Amino acid sequence: MSRYRIDRRTFGKAAGIAAGMTAVSWSPATAAEASGAPITTAAPGGLVQAHFRLQQGKPQYSITSGARTVLDWSAMGFELGDGSRLGDSAELLGTHHDELDETWQPTWGSAAEVRSHCNSTVVRLRETGTDRLLDIEFRVFDDGAGFRYVFPQQPNLGDFEVFDELTEFRFTDDHTAWSSPANYDSVEYLHTETPLTAAGGLHEWQEPRDEEGEHIGDVATPLTVRIAEDCYLAVHEAALFNYPGMTLTKIDGGPSLRCALVPRKGEGRRKAILRAPFPTPWRAFLLGRSAGELIESPLVLNLNEPCAIEDTSWIAPGKFVGVWWEIHKGRNTWIEGPDLGATTENTMRCIDFAAANGIPYVLAEGWNKGWTTGGDFGAQDFIRPNDQFDLRRVVDYARERGVNFLAHNETGGRIDNYERQIDEAFALYEELGLPGVKTGYAGDIGPHYHHDQSMVNHYQRVIHKAAKHRLMINAHEPIKGTGIERTFPNFVSREGARGIEYDAWSQGNPPEHTLILPFTVMLAGPFDYTPGIFDITWFPEQSPDDDHGSDNDGTRVHTTRAHQIALYPVLLSGLQQLSDVPEHYEGTPEFEFLREVPVSWDETRVVQGEIGDFLTMARRSGQSWFVGSLTDEQARTLEVPLHFLGAGAFVAHVYADAPETDLDTNPNAVRVDRFLVHAGTVVRAELARGGGHAIRIVPASDEDTAALQPYK
Ligand code: NOJ
Ligand code: CA
Repeated sequence: MSRYRIDRRTFGKAAGIAAGMTAVSWSPATAAEASGAPITTAAPGGLVQAHFRLQQGKPQYSITSGARTVLDWSAMGFELGDGSRLGDSAELLGTHHDELDETWQPTWGSAAEVRSHCNSTVVRLRETGTDRLLDIEFRVFDDGAGFRYVFPQQPNLGDFEVFDELTEFRFTDDHTAWSSPANYDSVEYLHTETPLTAAGGLHEWQEPRDEEGEHIGDVATPLTVRIAEDCYLAVHEAALFNYPGMTLTKIDGGPSLRCALVPRKGEGRRKAILRAPFPTPWRAFLLGRSAGELIESPLVLNLNEPCAIEDTSWIAPGKFVGVWWEIHKGRNTWIEGPDLGATTENTMRCIDFAAANGIPYVLAEGWNKGWTTGGDFGAQDFIRPNDQFDLRRVVDYARERGVNFLAHNETGGRIDNYERQIDEAFALYEELGLPGVKTGYAGDIGPHYHHDQSMVNHYQRVIHKAAKHRLMINAHEPIKGTGIERTFPNFVSREGARGIEYDAWSQGNPPEHTLILPFTVMLAGPFDYTPGIFDITWFPEQSPDDDHGSDNDGTRVHTTRAHQIALYPVLLSGLQQLSDVPEHYEGTPEFEFLREVPVSWDETRVVQGEIGDFLTMARRSGQSWFVGSLTDEQARTLEVPLHFLGAGAFVAHVYADAPETDLDTNPNAVRVDRFLVHAGTVVRAELARGGGHAIRIVPASDEDTAALQPYK
């Protein structure tokens, strides 16, 4: 069992102030502030600013960047379950200003070190009539801002309910936005590029009202918006604990938006059941001069609390192979029988492949009892293996070869069934020395919505229990990312968007999908896209009827193989799958890139990118750089300057679309080249439609310098 510094989440400094846990000197509000003069919090660099004011007793905020208004005066506050409001006719009691500057080391992630430097302001409000207190804390960084509400400890507010959070997001224009629809159960939708007034679109599966007839939010977060050519904004939330997820709904058709909390299912207008003191999640605003700067921003992590797990030595991110793609492609089944994928022998084959290639983990979906026909994943047994799977033998066989077996728990949305077994199951996995669990929540959660307060708490309970049993968690159909992996770094990945599985049994993800995800969903944190399909158009000869009815229905991946390779330096995932079947990797020279690519990084740069069009990212691990360039459905040539390299000569191993590569007729062709490069080299990356270009760059030895040609 591992130990926690805290068992519940820690309160941050300001929340501690509000809860009366930290001694603080409030400055009384000046007469001007009390009567509506803005209180400004500026970023350390001065450009980004958050402003607060009270207008006739109503709190409002705005965000500016230099002379530009990013968000105009927008409402704040709450409607509580007893019919009262907080932020309706409030007075300003005092303010508290501070500067926070720390440098912290993530257990794993995009960088070895992260600086968190901001100015903060806490304002204390008292509601006339009820005398209830509400604090609002702002933190303003050079790469954006955040605010959260804190309900302080107070005599007039103990247990309470939230009917509505009144936070608005008032845009100044009908800007271009990249959005996906709000849905209380699913985030597996394609994003669309539209004006804000059309954001979210309407998906054929989306029911725009819940069962009580209430309007469902229009848009999920993160929502990415182009404010101007040199100003991009992403609206999201950070540190979501014990509170419903935030979706956004249009105010009078838009472009302005308002917070729409996910309701508690079947509980009328009730969205949250809380007890003061309580800090809400942060409302987070990532700002960049380019879309790529949004990707580089650590703001969401910086708005989260430090690591709560004392000993993190057992958290070991890594790659995995396994029995997965062939099930989705219909060659094998999750269900016991002649086509079962997770047999002892199949899994051992994957283990042999992993061992031969230095891949630390193997996953076998369907290893356990309880998979039944008809897509009902509900009655699973997370303890007993299926009759064709010898769990202890597999675990030992793997361990002898330096590989570890990852557990899989598909709850099918049956939380009651999962919670009944989870302690025993996780204790078993710990006893077996398993490193982690891929969880799944396919389907509806009977009594709850996936993203309501109860489910936020369920997902968090799983993270806590996993930490106690030294297990990493990679959740599919998860709660959205809000940066909590800073606090709980055993939460190494989540799916949280349409993964590559859709390419196995639906019309699939268009090529631009992977050019939108990094600028939207991935701003929320690590993301398990399950990349790495090498045989792009593979359809197994014998496809037994599977749950998806995909019996040789011609579905395929809509990129080239080089694009699949180049995804690895782009996508961040603490558990990163090499998703294709081992026989498609064996004997290919380009598998070298997947074998070498790490999953955790010392440094990350966005070299260039436009949302939905193209992207080049470079990540460093030790002295090696891994560079991935991707394009959408258009062929294009990208110039990739290697200015991030240090001094000296390097060898660039290039894995790219070949001249003969074609998305439709020859997507698997990859050309491998090696050259000498240095910081002044600019590589021309020729990308086919749906194509990609990956470079592994390592310091050159004397032999390399003698044997290889400089890049021309
Ligand atoms: C959906 C997950 O996203 C997928 O990876 C998994 O194979 C299935 N559920 C079954 O658990
Ligand atoms: Ca999924």
